[in-house]
Amino acid sequence: MNGKELVRITDVTKVFKKTGFFRGSSSVLALDNISLSVKKGEILGIIGESGSGKTTLAKLILGLLKPTSGSISFADVRNHEHESRKPAVQVIFQDPYDSLSHMMTIGEIVAEPCFIKYGRSYVPEKVRQALESVGLIPVDEYLHKYPHTLSGGQRQRVAIARAIVTQPDMIIADEPISMLDCSIGVDILNLILEMNEKSGITFLFITHDIAAATYICNNIAVMKAGKIVEYGPKKQIISQCSHEYTDSLLASARGEVIKNY
Ligand SMILES: Nc1ncnc2c1ncn2[C@@H]1O[C@H](COP(=O)(O)OP(=O)(O)O)[C@@H](O)[C@H]1O
Ligand SMILES: [Mg+2]
Repeated sequence: MNGKELVRITDVTKVFKKTGFFRGSSSVLALDNISLSVKKGEILGIIGESGSGKTTLAKLILGLLKPTSGSISFADVRNHEHESRKPAVQVIFQDPYDSLSHMMTIGEIVAEPCFIKYGRSYVPEKVRQALESVGLIPVDEYLHKYPHTLSGGQRQRVAIARAIVTQPDMIIADEPISMLDCSIGVDILNLILEMNEKSGITFLFITHDIAAATYICNNIAVMKAGKIVEYGPKKQIISQCSHEYTDSLLASARGEVIKNY
């Protein structure tokens, strides 16, 4: 594995087998022989229309699904004590209404992932730091609230606080702004940029919105029907896209690029 790589995906194929009582069995080729690497410290954009395999790729990297064939490997990272370990990966989902427990307070939600890592006595301070860094201030105003009392943008900030509280090496953000109003979405994109620049967190940013990807990503991979049809630095993808599908994604977004960003 190259020194700058954090994750390497090699020849990965994922087939979902469906068996129905009336229709017999069928299979879906969700990922078709994909190879890709995620470099340390980058924001890598995965762009593609609905059903192109983006979430399946995210689930494979998270270990929630196993590839039908091919492999996913992680470079070791070093902690403060200079011990090598597998990189820690967190996730932010599309729907901030669904992804946060309605029964827990904001403080409890953000505290949950860090009990094991930090031990009880450190948790309140870590939770405060995380909420502050996503802009939910003054923190005391939010700690005891429940998610349903917050706006969509504030909930997505809570989801980001929960993802960063354990200081992961990488965050997979699966369509994190697609359910938010445009200006709120831009705030979340800026927050992702800030996390990347200040904390050096590597991001896999999944979207169907090429405008959002060109705003924050370093490199972009374009997916269509389970394949990566284009990959490169964002400037190259925008200026000299060689695939007609990328061109059509760009054409449909061009108005929005100018309008929104
Ligand atoms: N658990 C599953 N069982 C069967 N088919 C699935 C499953 N998850 C995804 N698929 C299929 O795999 C393809 C890719 O889906 P997905 O990765 O969710 O795409 P995207 O995130 O780009 O919208 C789609 O055809 C989808 O219907
Ligand atoms: Mg998806």
